[in-house]
Amino acid sequence: MKKINIAIDGPSGVGKSTVSELIAKKFNLKFINSGSLYRAISLFFFQKLGKEQFKQILDEKYVLDNWNIKQLFLDPFGNLFLDNVKIENKDLRKDEISWGASKIAKYKLIRSQIVSFLQDYSEKEKGVIMDGRDTTFVVLPNAELKIFLWASAEIRATRRMEQNQELGFKTNYEELLKEIEERDFQDMNRENDPLHKTDDAILIDSSNMNIQEVVNKISELILERINNE
Ligand code: DC
Repeated sequence: MKKINIAIDGPSGVGKSTVSELIAKKFNLKFINSGSLYRAISLFFFQKLGKEQFKQILDEKYVLDNWNIKQLFLDPFGNLFLDNVKIENKDLRKDEISWGASKIAKYKLIRSQIVSFLQDYSEKEKGVIMDGRDTTFVVLPNAELKIFLWASAEIRATRRMEQNQELGFKTNYEELLKEIEERDFQDMNRENDPLHKTDDAILIDSSNMNIQEVVNKISELILERINNE
């Protein structure tokens, strides 16, 4: 089957990674979660500096002076390594690491390093599905399929509440909603490469869809692209 590249952008908590992983399995593509690279750099500094200093000195100059993109490696299966040690996904999902990642993601030079890294990888390993906040217009502007996955902030907060309940965490709906709205504002108003839908991206509003329905919709679009190539 012809290999195509797929780019999926959308706000935080909309289900991009879950959907992308399922699509990757179904069509034998490599799934790259571009946010995990920003998170990996954040993890590097968290481990180097410890919790207190990490919060204090993570400005752009410090990050640039103390970081080299060669410390990251993505193998052909999509596994990410930091200084030759495989990174576990659970280590990237902690709150402090998310905080550092969103700070680092504002730095222009760091963004351009990550973009080049992801572009080189996708060129070598054709047949990737990549999710993030700038994949449709910066990282993979020539992707054969571009999706902008959306759901309202209220729906995303409700889904997160339900997930937390299943995991046994107590959460407050109003707080979750506020957090999601703040993240959306940051992502969509940041100076460098703010999140937006491009004209050539297909909007999928998943507010009233379940995961399988989103996967089915994207699968139809992939088959159309493959058959038209
Ligand atoms: O999707 P995520 O929450 O794992 O992303 C981590 C951080 O990196 C988040 O603050 C958004 C940012 N990010 C970005 O700016 N560009 C991307 N392509 C992916 C993530």
